[in-house]
Amino acid sequence: MSARHFLSLMDCTPQELSGLLRRASELKDLRKRGVLFEPLKNRVLGMIFEKASTRTRLSFEAGMIQLGGQAIFLSPKDTQLGRGEPVGDSAIVMSRMLDAIMIRTFAHSTLTTFAAHSQVPVINGLSDDLHPCQLLADMQTFIEHRGSIAGKTVAWVGDGNNMCNSYVEAAIQFDFQLNVATPEGFEPKARFLEKAGDRVRLMRDPREAVAGAHLVSTDVWCSMGQEDQVAQRRALFAPYQVNQALLDLAADDVLFMHCLPAHRGEEISADLLEDPRSVAWDQAENRLHAQKALLEMLVEPAYHHA
Ligand code: CP
Ligand code: NVA
Repeated sequence: MSARHFLSLMDCTPQELSGLLRRASELKDLRKRGVLFEPLKNRVLGMIFEKASTRTRLSFEAGMIQLGGQAIFLSPKDTQLGRGEPVGDSAIVMSRMLDAIMIRTFAHSTLTTFAAHSQVPVINGLSDDLHPCQLLADMQTFIEHRGSIAGKTVAWVGDGNNMCNSYVEAAIQFDFQLNVATPEGFEPKARFLEKAGDRVRLMRDPREAVAGAHLVSTDVWCSMGQEDQVAQRRALFAPYQVNQALLDLAADDVLFMHCLPAHRGEEISADLLEDPRSVAWDQAENRLHAQKALLEMLVEPAYHHA
């Protein structure tokens, strides 16, 4: 059970993360130049999705194909996972047939249990706690547009959710100051904040968080699994909408990011994704390149011919 997993940004050193993002940009360049690069020929990634996905599924599936391998989509609806086969047992069996496994799930403990029983790398494709693959793409996007993020100020506005928790970890690993503006009771989880110390400042006023920021990021007010709280959250989060006027308070060269999918008119104003400061489409594309670099790092290269 010695496989290397990626359940959180903390599973890599800051140096590994920087190298991985440099590699992501190289792989992006290879693809743009039409260069074939297939180190993962015959390798197979299993992808378990307990929640919906567009970007994560496509980027992992297309990424594996581009690297010469393949990906298999597994839904709990039509595997024994949905009928109560224990997560640990499933991990033992699946990891005997696959070369890596990506999981999008609810409880983060599903990932840690799976990883503890898996003999191949397990990748967190989003849990209720964290979304580390998205942060790889976000950091790659910032670096490609502005250079190093170390020492910069980042503002998170809205819900202290899985994305926000991963931004807290990113503040530690990439060495930036994070201002988090949330309504009371919606702060990021204490166990992530404790590790971050004074790198993260909690605030109520989004204008205070955004003042002078080099990157502003937000996410939906209601994450997957919280559909029963939509009305209550809409009312509470209304003062946290990111719009042009709020971005105007940030640094002149601020970038805006949203992991998508976005609800225009809720957490962002209707036209914010079209604002020249928004890099949300580059950010979405970089899921592909960053995860290819991650797969290259975690998955053994091709088999030898007999
Ligand atoms: N940002 C992100 O993870 O998108 P999907 O839910 O479409 O995978
Ligand atoms: N916080 C969102 C992110 C979706 C990519 C969710 O968990 O639904």
